Amino acid sequence: MNTQTASTWHPVARAADLRPGANIVAGFAEGRELALWRAADGTPQAWDNRCPHRSVRFTLGRVAGNQLACAYHGWEYEAGSGQCTRIPAHPAMPAPRNVCAKTFAAVEAAGMLWVQLPPDVPDEPDVPDGLGTPAELADAVPAGWHFCRTLTVRAPAGEVREALAHRGLAAHAAPGAWRGRLDGVDIVALVLDAQPRLAFVHLWTQAALNSAAMQTLHAAARRLRGEVETQH
Ligand code: FES
Repeated sequence: MNTQTASTWHPVARAADLRPGANIVAGFAEGRELALWRAADGTPQAWDNRCPHRSVRFTLGRVAGNQLACAYHGWEYEAGSGQCTRIPAHPAMPAPRNVCAKTFAAVEAAGMLWVQLPPDVPDEPDVPDGLGTPAELADAVPAGWHFCRTLTVRAPAGEVREALAHRGLAAHAAPGAWRGRLDGVDIVALVLDAQPRLAFVHLWTQAALNSAAMQTLHAAARRLRGEVETQH
């Protein structure tokens, strides 16, 4: 896992992929495995993907209204706090107050779900609201742009950022956001540091592309991935 000295926001998933009170999406950021979901009231949730009871992955469970229910023993945890609220095997027993899922701050901005992870080094001075203000996150992708695809790159995110900079793209104020042209196509690339040797690049385009421009962009993205993975 990378050593992170200040909390920062990570573009972990497309906001539209999380349906209220419905599905659970697996996510990664800085080597952590996350369970991403949306409560029935619409609020996005980003949790450590481990049930505090016996560590079964939350992504195997189900969303029940504003609760997440673990697949194994069915313990339920409430959106927001992550507090355990119900143990089906002991319906008359109050849920223990000290059992709580590990939760992270999550916001929706620019069509993405962003998750803020705490620093790995507790003694380091932290930036109060983390790297990336709400206004910067909201401006990461200009209004009206279209989501194109997510590129998986088996290499550190830093090498993807270097490759984008080498191609003349410029870093935006929002963490992980890069703007510029890839083979003549205007793009925003949101680079997610998923694992030490795994990056996801969410590509957004200015307009819905015709098939020729789409092929150009897909070919450019594959070349970028090939170069980065070969160097690594
Ligand atoms: S492991 Fe999740 S309820 Fe037991």
